[in-house]
Amino acid sequence: MHELEPVFNPRSIAVIGASRREGTIGQQVTKNLIDGKFPGPIYPINPGATEILGLKAYPSIGDVPEPVDAAVYCVPADKVLEVARQCAKAGVKGHIVITSGFAEVGNKREEDELVQIAKGSGGRVIGPNIVGTMSNPAKANASFAPVLPYVGQTALISQSGALIIALDTVTYARKFGVSSMISLGNMADVDFADCIEYYAQDMNTKCIALYIEGVKNGYKFMQAGRWAGKPIVALKAGVSAHGAAAAASHTGSLAGSVKVYQAACNQAHMIWATDLEDMLNKSQALAMQPVLKGDKVVIITNGGGIGVLGSDAAERHGIPLQAAPADVQAQFRKFMPDFGSPKNPVDITGGSGVAGYEGAIETALRCPWVDGIGVFYCETAVTKATDIANALITKLKETGITDKPVVACFVGGAGSVEAGKVLLEASIPYYDCPNKAMSALAALRQASRFQEVGCKVDFEPYTDVDKRKARSIIAAARAAGRKALTEPEAKELFACYGLPVTKSSLAKTEEEAVHFAQEIGFPVVLKIVSPDILHKSDAGGVRVNLKDAEAVCAGFRAIMENVRRYKADADLHGILVCEMAPLGSEVIIGSVNDATFGPTVMFGLGGVFVEVLKDVTFRVAPISIECALAMQQEIKGYPMLQGVRGEKRRDQEVLAGVLSRLSQLVSDLEDDIAETDANPILLYEEGKGCRVVDARVILKPR
Ligand code: COA
Repeated sequence: MHELEPVFNPRSIAVIGASRREGTIGQQVTKNLIDGKFPGPIYPINPGATEILGLKAYPSIGDVPEPVDAAVYCVPADKVLEVARQCAKAGVKGHIVITSGFAEVGNKREEDELVQIAKGSGGRVIGPNIVGTMSNPAKANASFAPVLPYVGQTALISQSGALIIALDTVTYARKFGVSSMISLGNMADVDFADCIEYYAQDMNTKCIALYIEGVKNGYKFMQAGRWAGKPIVALKAGVSAHGAAAAASHTGSLAGSVKVYQAACNQAHMIWATDLEDMLNKSQALAMQPVLKGDKVVIITNGGGIGVLGSDAAERHGIPLQAAPADVQAQFRKFMPDFGSPKNPVDITGGSGVAGYEGAIETALRCPWVDGIGVFYCETAVTKATDIANALITKLKETGITDKPVVACFVGGAGSVEAGKVLLEASIPYYDCPNKAMSALAALRQASRFQEVGCKVDFEPYTDVDKRKARSIIAAARAAGRKALTEPEAKELFACYGLPVTKSSLAKTEEEAVHFAQEIGFPVVLKIVSPDILHKSDAGGVRVNLKDAEAVCAGFRAIMENVRRYKADADLHGILVCEMAPLGSEVIIGSVNDATFGPTVMFGLGGVFVEVLKDVTFRVAPISIECALAMQQEIKGYPMLQGVRGEKRRDQEVLAGVLSRLSQLVSDLEDDIAETDANPILLYEEGKGCRVVDARVILKPR
């Protein structure tokens, strides 16, 4: 038996604080269990009552003669620990703590104690500060939400209790089928990952929908998602650039939590929802339909307009329509007038009735070329929406085809809404606009891709790295009391992990600078190295394209004069003599140490692309080369890497390796490294690699 079975599927329930007063939470929970027809025993616990709502009441849990699986806490916060001890002693395993007044108001100590008590006797805590839990299969409405939700196969897990209450009756209004609805509240013990793990093995659940405000343990969350093997839809609220403001590196300032959450959810095989509506739309399809195993989607429509909108939406959501092959078109042609279109969208035209739809639907269902179907309908006076809905249901039954997803988009008034109900009752997701329908189909495609990948982790650590030297570089900087590495140190650190940094040597004198320049080869670049000067160019601390010894000497003197003027007391380590890398496409890679997900790498094109357009993408580290290649393809500026205006394709493979290596570096040294930037990297055409021209590493405070 799963450890959370007593919480989510209890056989007997006690309501602690089942009040005698009508309108109280304690009485409502008791009433909800009765009204929901909970089949097991319900034990109201109240020291002042002998009977509540017709049920025998007990003064304390210890007085109940039989074992109790779960207890719903409806007593004030100051009674919770005492009740927890009594429950633990009585062998209760599921502690469903509705009571507020814990970590959310700063009372973390008692919250921790509550968990300790429960776990000490092999129990688990859900909450505190929740609406409760609702399970349709168990007929357990252990909450103060109005009713058990509309029956279906989505487990809806929400950090916000208010959202549970709000959505509870919405599930009836839109026939959104739910297996369980769980309010997680403070997540003192049971968290998203636990719920994912439980509902992944729950036979009554086909899709898991999460409303997330914040994840406590990013690693556990991502592991649970990858291992679930079931579609998960994630809606993240509270999206803001909070935390980025204080970031010291370029990457840090771009890392607003939403981009990192989005990346982490994707890596955890979760389907991202943009808002509540999107979450419900996608979950609806995922709970009702098989996944979309290929990209060939056909839209059957009686209206050109919604067909075109569907086509646009399909492209927007990554499943662009493809013209059906000639033989498939010929089959569709039979079910439309001459002025119809058998291409894709398959436009059977506005005058078509049930027969036209039946023919086109059956053709699409039976056609091996077609992977998924959107049945679109505009409400006309010559057809009845429910007839079209029934035609679709009948064809699905007749053909017996169950492995091809179908979504319906009926645009119209009351007739279409009525047809929508008929469709939903037959487990066909219905939408009132093309965009929602195609976004749902795209979610089915994404779920299929995640299934193909499975839970395999594709990152293979590099063995040709010098972790010991990397640590010693950081240790030396820390010993000198610095919070960041200097450029030569950062480059040396990057080189320990095989990043192709430009050759450079730190010169203390003009003579040394000339010597190093001759060693490296002209032309060279000179850069000031000082922990007190972060923006070298602003301080006049950079000279480029120095072609001979004379230019190096002059450059050295000029830089020294400039920086002394800029900051007289700056601690000057010397001047870095660097190889002048040939011009190439500027890209940036970097990392942040995200508070939730840990080391996270970023990629983007340099210059205005990163600074103005913020065209960047993130992944939780470490990442494989394949993943790093996918990152490059994700940004809007990707065509630049493919080569524009006669330029050759850039060396994406080498760049991917560099990104993957950086991801290992920041993972290996996650206790030390807060942020990194390799900016710019000059990226050359295929086969010519790239050069890391500047490097920055900010250390984690100790
Ligand atoms: N064991 C069992 N019952 C006890 C008890 C104990 N140790 N101590 C007290 N009770 C009884 C009380 O006598 C009372 O019953 P009565 O009305 O018949 O006398 C009942 O428990 C409730 O106690 P009461 O003090 O009246 O509490 P309350 O109903 O005012 O509030 C909560 C209790 C849990 C509802 C309240 O503290 C709370 O946390 N509310 C917020 C809940 C919330 O919003 N959660 C988050 C949603 S998102």
